[in-house]
Amino acid sequence: MSQTQTPIHGLGHSPRRKEDDRFIRGKGIYVDDVQLPGMLHMAILRSPLAHARITRVDTSQAQALEGVVAVVTGQDLAAHNLAWMPTLSADTQAVLALDKVVFQGQEVAAVIAETPYTAHDALELIDVDYDPLEPVVDPYRALEPDAPLIREDKPDQTSNHIFHWSQGDKEATDRAFAQADRVVSLDTFYPRCHPSPLETCGCVADVNPATGKATIWMTSQAPHVHRTLFALVAGLPEQNIRIISPDIGGGFGNKVPIYPGYVVATAASLLIGRPVKWVEDRTENLISTGFARDYHMSGEMALSADGKILGLRSKVIADHGAFNAAAQPSKFPAGLFHIFTGSYDVPAAYCEVDGAYTNKAPGGIAYRCSFRVTEASYLIERMVQNAATELGMDPVELRRRNFIQPEQFPYRSAVGWVYDSGDYQRALDLALEKLGYEELRREQKEKWERGELMGIGVASFTEIVGAGHGAEFDIAGLRMFDSAELRVHPTGKAILKLGVKSQGQGHETTFAQIVAGELGIPASDISVVEGDTDNTPYGLGTYASRSTPVGGAATAMIARKLRAKATRIAAHLLEASEDDIEYEEGRFFVKGAPDRAKTIQDVAFAAYTNLPEGMEPGLEGVHYYDPPNMTYPFGTYCVVVDLDKGTGEWKTRKMVAVDDCGVRINPMIVEGQIHGGLAEGFGIAAMQLITFDEQGNCIGSNFTDYLLPTSWETPRFETFATVTPSPHHPIGAKGVGESATVGSPAAYVNAVLDALAPLGITNIDMPVTSDKVWAAMHEKGFV
Ligand code: CDP
Repeated sequence: MSQTQTPIHGLGHSPRRKEDDRFIRGKGIYVDDVQLPGMLHMAILRSPLAHARITRVDTSQAQALEGVVAVVTGQDLAAHNLAWMPTLSADTQAVLALDKVVFQGQEVAAVIAETPYTAHDALELIDVDYDPLEPVVDPYRALEPDAPLIREDKPDQTSNHIFHWSQGDKEATDRAFAQADRVVSLDTFYPRCHPSPLETCGCVADVNPATGKATIWMTSQAPHVHRTLFALVAGLPEQNIRIISPDIGGGFGNKVPIYPGYVVATAASLLIGRPVKWVEDRTENLISTGFARDYHMSGEMALSADGKILGLRSKVIADHGAFNAAAQPSKFPAGLFHIFTGSYDVPAAYCEVDGAYTNKAPGGIAYRCSFRVTEASYLIERMVQNAATELGMDPVELRRRNFIQPEQFPYRSAVGWVYDSGDYQRALDLALEKLGYEELRREQKEKWERGELMGIGVASFTEIVGAGHGAEFDIAGLRMFDSAELRVHPTGKAILKLGVKSQGQGHETTFAQIVAGELGIPASDISVVEGDTDNTPYGLGTYASRSTPVGGAATAMIARKLRAKATRIAAHLLEASEDDIEYEEGRFFVKGAPDRAKTIQDVAFAAYTNLPEGMEPGLEGVHYYDPPNMTYPFGTYCVVVDLDKGTGEWKTRKMVAVDDCGVRINPMIVEGQIHGGLAEGFGIAAMQLITFDEQGNCIGSNFTDYLLPTSWETPRFETFATVTPSPHHPIGAKGVGESATVGSPAAYVNAVLDALAPLGITNIDMPVTSDKVWAAMHEKGFV
């Protein structure tokens, strides 16, 4: 067979995204596109109150409505032992409320009907009597001894305190503070925000009464984990559960938890014997599904007079809402917050986090973030800015003096993380050069002298992505590895099946490119399958930018295993010794005689037709990859803002982003990931907030109150790269999907505060809206 002329498109190439063909034609298949014969529709009744006892639920009128097949309450589920479900943080969550509601929007009852319209109409006919209780919306109030107890369902729970967790060496850190010339402190709040994917959450559950097989189409970022948890909770045999995550319209962490709607729809299908579809609307998504952040952080930095960071400590109050449903590795209730020393060589560090229940929607999920790294990164980058202002030093210079140096890698931080590789100075220098930093500082000085406000914000973030390794990291006890199964067909085309699941990140393109790079099969000849538990090997799923570090590594490893077998087959075909076979870009040839060659396509055909004596036929295999370490992408983001001192309005004049995610598989896709992340980071810094009134009513339940940045507000981004490969990843790649959301909010806030530095304003919490800026200036007597 002759080698195909199709370009191979291995690492570093930017072929167009394969999946976009169907997306731009409107031919993607999402959960709501699934239509099954006899399918019913489910709608959920939600609590209007944040904290109340349920004294009566009357479903009789709803049941009587024509077209209604069933109305389900918490009591009905309790009869099947399904009223409560475990969360991914080892808490329990009410599937449908029994005698009490604990947040506005909580699931109280469900209607299953012939049409979605009938199901929604019937919700109006359910009569629920509530006896209101004092709502607790402030976590500080929640932790007061006389605060109303929210979780009365938990026999051992006598307060609203969920956990206390600390990391680092307290004594060593205290000693560092005792020796400091200067201590800089910052109290800041990283507000509650929401991933708000384009597609809301939903499922179609089809439990076949004849076979007992449950097929659940589900908006799931982690279908295998969800299958196992369904098996454990519902007691269904795991081989009888098939979770299919079809195309997903964005996840960002929102589709990692298991939501009550999935459970009720599956139970309803099981009991009724017909498929049941549930798709939530936008308001349901915003008020009841996993929110992110809500971290009240106090940080202190100990410094020498010449600007060396000697120690760092922080205390955090984490608001987890009414059920602790954060998706966290179980050892780390505050996620990876202890990466809070960031890009700096900090000799001593200590952090403490206390989790609190409040009468708000459950969550604490990692929104485009590796388990609380965003909060940690924000804290350290804001503190560096404030420390520089207090010391009268250029924030860039303070960073330079404290960066972990390239020769220090692998670097063990004061809290025990082992950073794999980095060159922070190089990324910073590139960003400053592209920004024109020195000139801008001169301009700023002149403007300040004229009474005009302009600010330059810098954030030199370090990320930590790619969980596991499995001995250290697990979700609900399941070790965090991932897997890839590769099958090369006789004609040299291949199918790659993965345990991770794309939600728009372009896996069908980039993972094929990894195989192309390893085996020389053109990426366009490799189809990538994800998100079907019957047809893919087990994996922990896609969140926290773990696909490339873990699933990508598994892909490279299985391709290498197949290449080793292919080399033996090539030796047989070329009648040479295996040791004499060399490989280059899809060709196997005899050392010193490059014309005596076989292509990977020739070898694939031989794997089914002409094998060496005794060799197992076929060219396929599976690899489970347990990463030896996390990967540590990094970068520097710089923002220049002009601030109107009359209104407090600020505008981004320039935004420069330098990212280093190690080896880039597909630079175009990486750029896309960074652009999206930067837009989300801007939204969080400038306009987004899920807040509550004192009654626990969610303010931010729709897109006129919860603002997503449009192209009108979003600044123009100038993106650049440095490449520092990960030494332990098979292809040197690190994750990238969330870097920009993690790193950029601090750059915007630092820019605004840099503009306000002459006025002595040291903090404004996000979102930094013009009214807050104006109020801060007003307080200082400036306006
Ligand atoms: O886990 P998730 O897919 O959200 O994040 P990721 O691993 O950071 O990857 C996001 C997208 O960027 C995927 O299509 C990756 O394969 C691609 N990527 C890349 O091309 N090169 C890298 N070094 C990292 C990611």
